[in-house]
Amino acid sequence: MFLPILFTISLHFSSSSHASVLDFCVADPSLPDGPAGFSCKKPAKVTVDDFVYHALGIPGNTSNLLKIAGTPAFAPQFPGINGLGISIARLDLAVDGVRPIHTHPGGSEILFVVERTICAGFISSSANTVYFKTLYKGDVMVFPQGLLQFGFNSGKTPALAIISFNNPNPGLQLLDFALFANNLPSEIVEKVTFLDDAQGHHTHTAITPVKMFLPILFTISLLFSSSHASVLDFCVADPSLPDGPAGFSCKKPAKVTVDDFVYHALAIPGNTSNLIKAAVTPAFAPQFPGVNGLGISMLRLDLAVGGVVPIHTHPGGSEIVFVVEGTICAGFISSSANTVYLKTLYKGDVMVFPQGLLHFQFNSGKTPALAIISFNSPSPGLQLVDFALFANNLPSEIVEKVTFLDEAQVKKLKAVLGGTG
Ligand SMILES: *[C@@H]1O[C@H](CO)[C@@H](O)[C@H](O)[C@H]1NC(C)=O
Ligand SMILES: *[C@@H]1O[C@H](CO)[C@@H](O)[C@H](O)[C@H]1NC(C)=O
Repeated sequence: MFLPILFTISLHFSSSSHASVLDFCVADPSLPDGPAGFSCKKPAKVTVDDFVYHALGIPGNTSNLLKIAGTPAFAPQFPGINGLGISIARLDLAVDGVRPIHTHPGGSEILFVVERTICAGFISSSANTVYFKTLYKGDVMVFPQGLLQFGFNSGKTPALAIISFNNPNPGLQLLDFALFANNLPSEIVEKVTFLDDAQGHHTHTAITPVKMFLPILFTISLLFSSSHASVLDFCVADPSLPDGPAGFSCKKPAKVTVDDFVYHALAIPGNTSNLIKAAVTPAFAPQFPGVNGLGISMLRLDLAVGGVVPIHTHPGGSEIVFVVEGTICAGFISSSANTVYLKTLYKGDVMVFPQGLLHFQFNSGKTPALAIISFNSPSPGLQLVDFALFANNLPSEIVEKVTFLDEAQVKKLKAVLGGTG
């Protein structure tokens, strides 16, 4: 009853007067690109399918040297995320599968284990401290932008993870491939890595086992050590200290452990016995101190049958939804023309929601649904429109004046949501 009225009102503001607001910029790879991404497709040609991506529902082919498969939903594959500062990928790890040591120069990463067991870690630049942990189903780990990181299947069955980045093109540089999979002369490789000649020759025909390479890199990096202390790799939240607009104050690095970068609560189903039959379990900076300052976070959404996340915004960040189980109908509304982008999502589907726009999700299936949602902010915020209007003490006359809703409707919703006045 609320939405149609909002729509009618917004027709009074001509859509073209808002044309300067860029809600999104769906990639048009046929046009020239720039450092900020691809050029934008004409808005009139944009459809909801630009914001939905199906390929992450399909297992990758792990029959390769590394026994892994990464299926990216970056801007080249998934045009809808262009310019939105977020992306996602599927990572399949067969038994013994390895994600060799690598960096993502363009973004921080957050990893959610969908199935089985993955050992993952990263290495700080300031002190070469290693943070690594065995992760189980439902665990989340965050990796700061640009740091060397790795992962491998440490179980006896294939593993599956969903990884999200706060950049539509985070980039990937695999250290071994950068050194040994091109024509950089062996003498130079040896000079700049301190690897010996035998190792260098061996690796021109096969990729160096990571276990032989890392200790050497570590020995070297001890020569540098504390001179890099001014680089802030991360800023784990210390809620006991004052916070500011950019986030919480940093915990002292000496007190930081790997457990600050790992969060277990998303493994636990939320309690959907409530008015909206939905449960949101956030892994934002207040709950998960490791994401503070890293520009990324995650949450778990449980939707019982009939469950709904009512129309809301996240003022602070763009959002990507990955459907783990069930069927979810989701949509958002552009600010420039109030166009609705609405889609039914099935297991493995991904949909992106541009920062700050009104959007919603509801269970449109006959079984409970589960989604894992990433944001390109450690504190994206959440404002539910109905709760903002009807769950506080804003006087009914003012609610009626600014929404054009009638008094009976306002009183009814205030009664349901606990509002007064
Ligand atoms: C997986 O990749 C291997 C090696 O490239 C190939 O031989 C095989 O046919 C692929 N399997 C599938 C199911 O595509
Ligand atoms: C779920 O929430 C309801 C309502 O608050 C409560 O009665 C119930 O005990 C909760 N269930 C669990 C398993 O915590």
